[in-house]
Amino acid sequence: MSDQQHVYPVREDFAAKAWADKATYQAMYQRSLDDPEGFWAEQAKRLDWFTSPTKIKHTVFDTHNVDIRWFEDGTLNASVNCLDRHLETRGDQPAIIWEGDDPKDSKTLTYRQLHERTCQLANALKSLGVARGDTVTLYMPMIPEAAMAMLACARIGAIHSVVFGGFSPDALAQRVKDAGSKVVITADESVRGGKNVPLKDNVDAALTREGTDVAEKVLVVQRTGGDIEWQDGRDVWYHDLVDQQSSDCPAEPMGAEDPLFILYTSGSTGTPKGLKHTTGGYLLHAAMTHQYVFDYQDGEIYWCTADVGWVTGHSYIVYGPLANGAISLMFEGVPSYPTNGRMGEVVDKHKVNILYTAPTAVRALMAHGDNVMDSSKRDSLRLLGSVGEPINPEAWEWFYRVIGNEQCPIVDTWWQTETGGIMIAPLPGATDLKPGSATLPFFGVQPALVDNEGNLLEGATEGNLVILDSWPGQARSIWKNHERFLQTYFTTYKGMYFTGDGCRRDEDGYYWITGRVDDVLNVSGHRMGTAEIESSLVAHDAVAEAAVVGFPHDIKGQGIYIYVTLADGVEPSDELKKELTQWVRKDIGPIASPDVIQWAPGLPKTRSGKIMRRILRKIAANECDGLGDTSTLADPSVVEELIEHRAIK
Ligand code: WT7
Repeated sequence: MSDQQHVYPVREDFAAKAWADKATYQAMYQRSLDDPEGFWAEQAKRLDWFTSPTKIKHTVFDTHNVDIRWFEDGTLNASVNCLDRHLETRGDQPAIIWEGDDPKDSKTLTYRQLHERTCQLANALKSLGVARGDTVTLYMPMIPEAAMAMLACARIGAIHSVVFGGFSPDALAQRVKDAGSKVVITADESVRGGKNVPLKDNVDAALTREGTDVAEKVLVVQRTGGDIEWQDGRDVWYHDLVDQQSSDCPAEPMGAEDPLFILYTSGSTGTPKGLKHTTGGYLLHAAMTHQYVFDYQDGEIYWCTADVGWVTGHSYIVYGPLANGAISLMFEGVPSYPTNGRMGEVVDKHKVNILYTAPTAVRALMAHGDNVMDSSKRDSLRLLGSVGEPINPEAWEWFYRVIGNEQCPIVDTWWQTETGGIMIAPLPGATDLKPGSATLPFFGVQPALVDNEGNLLEGATEGNLVILDSWPGQARSIWKNHERFLQTYFTTYKGMYFTGDGCRRDEDGYYWITGRVDDVLNVSGHRMGTAEIESSLVAHDAVAEAAVVGFPHDIKGQGIYIYVTLADGVEPSDELKKELTQWVRKDIGPIASPDVIQWAPGLPKTRSGKIMRRILRKIAANECDGLGDTSTLADPSVVEELIEHRAIK
């Protein structure tokens, strides 16, 4: 797998019509570094401001003082930018095309309809006592009400915290409590792959947990009509309250640096972190990247297959596309239901032009063979996108050849919950593609590679990926814990933002992300902290100690491999493995399901008692020959035993 492999040059038809060709990209990128104030002041004009900003950039990256402010004296409202300003020119154009889990279910909402319902919902939230600066938790299916709820919060200056609908009651409770949400918006049930998921039951369970009594009201969308419990005084039907509201709701003028949302994500240690994103810089970055990276042209149908529970859904289903007046397709279901051809069938049904999905979805289809796409033509497609994890060149080529009929460039987009929007990615009219590389930085983004001591590395090399200066979409802090924000991102390498990713740069300056270098797993594009899974396991009576590592998995990218040391007197058994698997699923959610559990009479530790995960990762990957230096092990025999009983041989 070298850089000498296939290069896909920019297609001329693309360059001719694209927002940026090579020269434009280079000129704009250079200007964004040479004159950030001028560049961003100009770009900020793509948003509608109540008061235009005059102070553009005030950003300090210092280990002891991280202070990030963009457009700080400007005021605006995100929902006005996503809705009101489009009414005159495209009020009757679709804003959201919704495709249900059942292929017979779909509907379209125009900008006018979306605006009207968002305003009604915003008034409903006010009537429940939600005010500017309050937080609201959303635990919702992929239905238009989820987008409306985000925009309704934005309209009245409330801060939304979307929790992925696959998380368990405990995970939800933890997030409601940390955010201090007064109101939770949910649905009776969600529907995915023909199965109903009891969202409201999960909310009920979550709100029995300690510390969640901040949540005074639960607003419930009726999605399926399934049986649910009802708590009078607390629970409110969405249709009862929202339908009777006025559709006139003046938007709150927000400071550019006022929070727009919190979004929880996992790190290498501790509980999930609530990343805080603010209004002006975030919206600008989401909108601008959506336009340039997807080369979005007026009237095109754009489909991002992510869930709104993740940052991809925030930036590239809701905020970016709607700020640009785009047509955003929202899909409730899963790619494999009712058949494995569903993704292509949805493309044909709605004449999708731009398809943004995850490598794990591509690999899952690829595993079924080329015929899996026979039920669709996909000739409306113009551009493909990939996000969430490194895309291996084989999957890239298959995506290009089979899904895209060799007609569509692929934009491999590297970014993170923390970055708010895309950071490293090709612009399809400007960047020659190399399968497996996220290619070059977006405007204003200064990636660099450092060694473990923080020395900057030049030229073609490999190292830890850092970003040298701030960009508008950057998270400003961790909710209620700025100290943790400094610790996590700015202490590893002084004066730089540390991404947690390893990366290679080739002789053309192209970036190739190699994966996390910390104890964060990426399973099917979902980010998970090993520490969270470990603490779940040790809470089980049978477990004395547990260590979790990732291992290469054909479809998921990484699988979850668990080493368990049992408590004294507990006998290992297959039943116990099943029980522990269920335990973790119930505690965190199905996305944290262990793939492999290995009984470990002992774990490899240093003499000071630190678990040597490096060795555990090697054993899990069945790379037992290259264990590296084991001389610091307290008891080397532990390793022999683990190798002998390893699960993957
Ligand atoms: C981590 C961030 C970005 C939104 C979805 C995930 C990995 C993401 C790529 C890519 C290689 C990627 C990184 C990153 N990642 N995109 N195109 N190539 N790796 O957001 O949950 O915050 O996870 O996902 O490891 O650090 P997230």
